[in-house]
Amino acid sequence: MVDLKEVLKEVEGWAREVGQLQRKNFRKEDLEIDTKSTVTDLVTEIDKKSEKYIIDKIEANYPDHAILGEETGDHHKESDYLWVIDPLDGTNNYAQGLPIYCISIGLKYRGEAILGVVYAPYLDEMYTALKDEGAFCNGKKINVGSEKELDRCVLATGFPYDKLTNPLNNIDYFGEIVPRLRGVRRMGAAAYDLACVAAGFLDGYWEMNLRHWDVAAGILLVEEAGGKISYFRDDREYSIIAGNKDVVELVEGHIKMVDRKR
Ligand code: IPD
Ligand code: CA
Ligand code: CA
Repeated sequence: MVDLKEVLKEVEGWAREVGQLQRKNFRKEDLEIDTKSTVTDLVTEIDKKSEKYIIDKIEANYPDHAILGEETGDHHKESDYLWVIDPLDGTNNYAQGLPIYCISIGLKYRGEAILGVVYAPYLDEMYTALKDEGAFCNGKKINVGSEKELDRCVLATGFPYDKLTNPLNNIDYFGEIVPRLRGVRRMGAAAYDLACVAAGFLDGYWEMNLRHWDVAAGILLVEEAGGKISYFRDDREYSIIAGNKDVVELVEGHIKMVDRKR
């Protein structure tokens, strides 16, 4: 077994380095931007450079470990350890010049999340968690919120990249849930949404069709902060509700109600 506390220090260092690269190029006028799966699914030169930096570090320090990165896919290695990386979560924000974006690095051992780091460079917020050791923001212990009624809650959500062509695009869940809330946010970075749930800055969050790299670190943060994750669809990748147990159950109830009416 690797010494997770040591690994965490190292990963925090990588995230800060990549964060510096992202801040340095933030709002750069000639930022190279391409599209991926749809015209709304963007990738910038900084997404690619960030992923390369992190993968080079993993390969140099943990050459036997398997890696899954958003921009380079599965690095096909047989290992008990799997690194799951979103080098720049919130690419749309980054490309627009909006400051909510982050780096998400998760480590799994035999399929179980054991380490999660989400770093938001513009805000200089470092969220960390190790399995069974709690969750932290800039070294301070964090916990999910304690609200029990939706009309006292601010929740975040998001919409999938295929929202134009796929009717399972969260619009009906949104219509059912939002009128019941104190407020809703669409922050545009799933890993940061989960980090904010872990810290109680958001009371909860739901989103469908997320990918492994969006959630690998954030789910551990929420669980280690005393929260719950529920998986509400198995036909749309990672479709999750996050929050304290009561909030998750309330949101789940409304989602099920919409599904029954389909
Ligand atoms: C996206 C963001 C966004 C979520 C999308 C993700 P990316 O990740 O997390 O908030 O709604 O589903 O794909 O493309 O910016 O890394
Ligand atoms: Ca992402
Ligand atoms: Ca990304």
